[in-house]
Amino acid sequence: MATRSRRPALQPRRILVIHGPNLNLVGKREPAVYGNETLADIEARLSELADELGVKLEIFQSNSEGALVDRIQSARGQVDGILINPAAYTHTSIALRDALLAAGLPAVEVHLSNVHRREEFRHHSLIAPVAVGQILGFGGESYLLGLRALVALLRGQRSARS
Ligand code: DQA
Repeated sequence: MATRSRRPALQPRRILVIHGPNLNLVGKREPAVYGNETLADIEARLSELADELGVKLEIFQSNSEGALVDRIQSARGQVDGILINPAAYTHTSIALRDALLAAGLPAVEVHLSNVHRREEFRHHSLIAPVAVGQILGFGGESYLLGLRALVALLRGQRSARS
C-alpha cells in the first residue's frame, strides 16, 4: 500500500514587536496625543490577537538606540517579521534603519498618532523606505492593524512559495 508522505506541521510565525523610546510612558504621557491606553494594555490586546492569528510574539521596549539596534540584529534568522514603533528614532535614526536592512526581515512601521498632523519634524520617517508599509493615527489599534497586515503578508509569501 502506498504510504502518504507526511508534510511537516507548519511552525507558527514569530513576530518581534519593538517599541522605541518613551513608549513605556504611554497612557501617562501626553494623553491628548497618545490616549489613555498603557503599553501593557496594548500588549495584552496584541497577545490576544496573536493567539487568534496563531502567531508567536516577542516584545521589546527600550529607550536606548543601541539596545534597539542590538535587539533587531539578534532577530536575524530568529523571527519572521518585525512590527516596530520606532517613536522619536523614526525621524533621526540611520542606525535603526540600517539594523532593519541588515536583519533582512519584513517590517511594518506603526505609530499611535498621525504624525502628519503634527510638527513638521515628525513628517519624515527614515524607517518608512525600508518598511513594507506604515500604519499610523489609530492609537493602540495601529499595532493591531499592523500585526494583521504583517501576518497576512507572511502568509501570502508562504503560499506564493509553496
Ligand atoms: C510616535 C510618534 C513619534 O513622532 C513620537 O516621537 C513618539 C511616538 C507615535 O507612536 O505616534 O514617541 O511614534
